[in-house]
Amino acid sequence: MVLHRQVLCATMLSLASAALGYELIHDYSGNTFFDGWDYYGKWDNLTLGNVTYLTQEAATQQKLTYVNDAGNAIIKVDNFTTVASGERRNSIRLTSQEYYDFGTVWIIDALHMPWGCSVWPAFWSTAPDWPVGGEIDIVEGINTQPNNQFAIHTTEGCYHDNPPNQAGFNIDTNCSQASGCTVGINTQNSYQAGFAAAGGGVYATQYDTSGIYMWFWSRPNVPASLSSSSTSINISDWGTPTASFPNDQACNTTKFFKPQQLIFDITLCGDWAGVPGIYDSECYNAGPHHDCYLDNVVGNGSNYDDAYFEVSYVRTYATGAALAAAQASKTATTSSTASTSSATQSHTQTSDASLPRVSLHGVLFMSMCVAGLIAGSVLPLL
Ligand SMILES: *[C@@H]1O[C@H](CO)[C@@H](O)[C@H](O)[C@H]1NC(C)=O
Ligand SMILES: *[C@@H]1O[C@H](CO)[C@@H](O)[C@H](O)[C@H]1NC(C)=O
Ligand SMILES: *[C@@H]1O[C@H](CO)[C@@H](O)[C@H](O)[C@H]1NC(C)=O
Ligand SMILES: *[C@@H]1O[C@H](CO)[C@@H](O)[C@H](O)[C@H]1NC(C)=O
Ligand SMILES: *[C@@H]1O[C@H](CO)[C@@H](O)[C@H](O)[C@H]1NC(C)=O
Ligand SMILES: *[C@@H]1O[C@H](CO)[C@@H](O)[C@H](O)[C@H]1NC(C)=O
Ligand SMILES: *[C@@H]1O[C@H](CO)[C@@H](O)[C@H](O)[C@H]1NC(C)=O
Repeated sequence: MVLHRQVLCATMLSLASAALGYELIHDYSGNTFFDGWDYYGKWDNLTLGNVTYLTQEAATQQKLTYVNDAGNAIIKVDNFTTVASGERRNSIRLTSQEYYDFGTVWIIDALHMPWGCSVWPAFWSTAPDWPVGGEIDIVEGINTQPNNQFAIHTTEGCYHDNPPNQAGFNIDTNCSQASGCTVGINTQNSYQAGFAAAGGGVYATQYDTSGIYMWFWSRPNVPASLSSSSTSINISDWGTPTASFPNDQACNTTKFFKPQQLIFDITLCGDWAGVPGIYDSECYNAGPHHDCYLDNVVGNGSNYDDAYFEVSYVRTYATGAALAAAQASKTATTSSTASTSSATQSHTQTSDASLPRVSLHGVLFMSMCVAGLIAGSVLPLL
């Protein structure tokens, strides 16, 4: 009995710890940060903001995307052009060419996030047929909102119960409503001036068949496993996620989510930040017109000095079948002389629902096993 349990636990321990190890599949940082993203290259017809998202060529030339002297990527709104009434201001929207399937972890280490009246930035992910395939909002804010909040968006049928393994708090719980399923953060400095003053921080997303989990750490609290290694990470010291969307009866996440592309964007006004009742609540006195567009977008742009991302890196990691697929895709891309892009190849990655549902469950199981082994060795007759 004891022996049987020990063998079983040893097997499960090795399975669980193997699966907690993730290998780097893409490092967006330094001089190659902007490789692997598509620039939207036209006006914001998605959230109806008063911006034109530049092409890569124009963005590089106008320095709305560049790598600064510290080696960090800057993604910003134009704060140097005088915009006349009736015109749009230039900004950026980037979409990753790679698609990320279950079995991946996405990490952003940033020093500054955009904010200010009319500003609506996000670092998020979506499937191409949105809302089919889901959306995950990792960083999102409007106007002078002080804190970040997480969200997932789905088609009808996905709800968010109060998960036990969540450090943040539920706000909205019907994921097909306009707001999505939102989760607030209890800790300080998740966004805005506080985020920057603390030296920024790290947001991590685990996209797994067992669920979708997100963490936020302000700079002083970033776990050692993230500071020490870039080629592989071990998430076992990450602790309780800030937001947990477990695959459960309330939401079958493997049904509602499809492979995701990562997106950075900064729009101005538009469907959320610019809605009069919402805009007015924080920015009514931002100018004489009490209007999002006229009081902010129009003018010399000096009000957009804080409307930029400064990103140390975005790194994506994979385990199990997702890792094998990413490696196969890289090999195929490298050895192929055909014109098939790596994006297309990545897109063919299939999710492997038969992967052991480890990750957080693995941590739990490991604790149970360790406890069981100790109990078993101390009390071998039980
Ligand atoms: C991850 O860290 C835990 C705790 O330090 C360790 O038990 C486990 O073996 C590690 N896993 C890998 C794949 O390195
Ligand atoms: C936005 O514009 C593009 C290109 O003109 C078009 O393909 C797309 O359908 C538009 N999207 C929306 C939501 O209008
Ligand atoms: C600015 O946004 C408002 C609200 O969406 C819209 O009515 C207006 O036409 C936009 N103006 C420009 C120049 O984009
Ligand atoms: C959830 O939201 C959707 C979309 O607004 C709505 O159709 C559905 O009835 C809502 N579900 C519940 C239980 O209220
Ligand atoms: C969840 O959705 C997946 C994919 O559609 C399906 O294979 C699975 O059976 C569903 N699980 C449950 C418990 O309904
Ligand atoms: C830009 O516009 C603001 C607000 O109208 C004004 O206070 C500021 O002096 C202007 N800056 C320059 C350099 O013209
Ligand atoms: C634009 O903002 C940056 C900081 O983000 C600042 O260094 C720069 O001086 C501003 N440009 C102008 C023309 O004010």
